[in-house]
Amino acid sequence: MARAISFYIMHSPTMPGLPPLIRLEAVSKTFPLPGGGSFNAVCPLSLDVAQGQIFGLIGKSGAGKSTLLRMINLLERPDSGRVMLDGQDLTRLSKRQLRMARQDIGMIFQQFNLLQNATVFDNVAFPLTLHGRFGKVELDARVHECLALVGLTDKTHHYPAQLSGGQKQRVAIARALAPRPKVLLCDEPTSALDAETTRSVLETLLDINRQLGVTIVIVTHELSVVHALCTRVAVLEQGQLVEQFDVDDHAGRRISVLGRELEQERRRAELLKAYDANIEERAASSREAV
Ligand SMILES: Nc1ncnc2c1ncn2[C@@H]1O[C@H](COP(=O)(O)OP(=O)(O)OP(=O)(O)O)[C@@H](O)[C@H]1O
Ligand SMILES: [Mg+2]
Repeated sequence: MARAISFYIMHSPTMPGLPPLIRLEAVSKTFPLPGGGSFNAVCPLSLDVAQGQIFGLIGKSGAGKSTLLRMINLLERPDSGRVMLDGQDLTRLSKRQLRMARQDIGMIFQQFNLLQNATVFDNVAFPLTLHGRFGKVELDARVHECLALVGLTDKTHHYPAQLSGGQKQRVAIARALAPRPKVLLCDEPTSALDAETTRSVLETLLDINRQLGVTIVIVTHELSVVHALCTRVAVLEQGQLVEQFDVDDHAGRRISVLGRELEQERRRAELLKAYDANIEERAASSREAV
């Protein structure tokens, strides 16, 4: 799958020179344990995500990836530190201000989290109706625009149960994009999908990043997804940020196991690409010779 994805999808450019869109400053999260005591899910760590970037968060199960991701929109409130979005400290906002600020942050999940008893149209319209800022004509137009973006115009009146996994995830993407967010948070968005569907959902995410300039932060355990999509990646281990690097920086030494695996996977994909090109070249020469 890694090879297939990397052949179809080119890396997205970042926008150098701009201040970070997301800045996590010494954020941490501890959960209480049932028998008393506590567990440090995220130890104090700082992270910047540049505007226009596709930022990958990787790590083993339980490393704290989802907790860290959910801290960006304060679904998980950090015990300490600051969460800055476009220069605004989200941890200091009132409930009403936070509701407004969250319109800038869309989110999608592994299990899609769609409203089962609502049509595709109503699912996408849902975040817009919450704030009551849209008249019917404007709302209709925005929902259709978002469904067109993800290629699902023909499913407008279907229910989630009538859709494939990939189509459900596209509805979730359209719903997340409806309020025109600056950031899209993705928690394992392709883990429930097959290879072919994964590729098409990743292409959609890449289009969104390129065409709309939406910054993406994606949690994934699939290294091929990192290669296909991400411009930068951070590795978490037991709640600690072990390293972070640009995906196309091949000179730096990787200190984490996953960082090294990522580099090995890239080399493997490059070798396969060279091999395929060589086969194609030979086939072309033989055709010419006949
Ligand atoms: N609400 C909670 N209460 C108690 N412990 C929690 C809670 N949420 C997460 N944890 C614990 O914090 C740690 C980090 O969880 P998190 O969900 O962030 O991991 P993850 O890296 O996303 O793992 P996975 O790849 O399995 O999704 C885990 O050990 C988890 O059990
Ligand atoms: Mg998780």
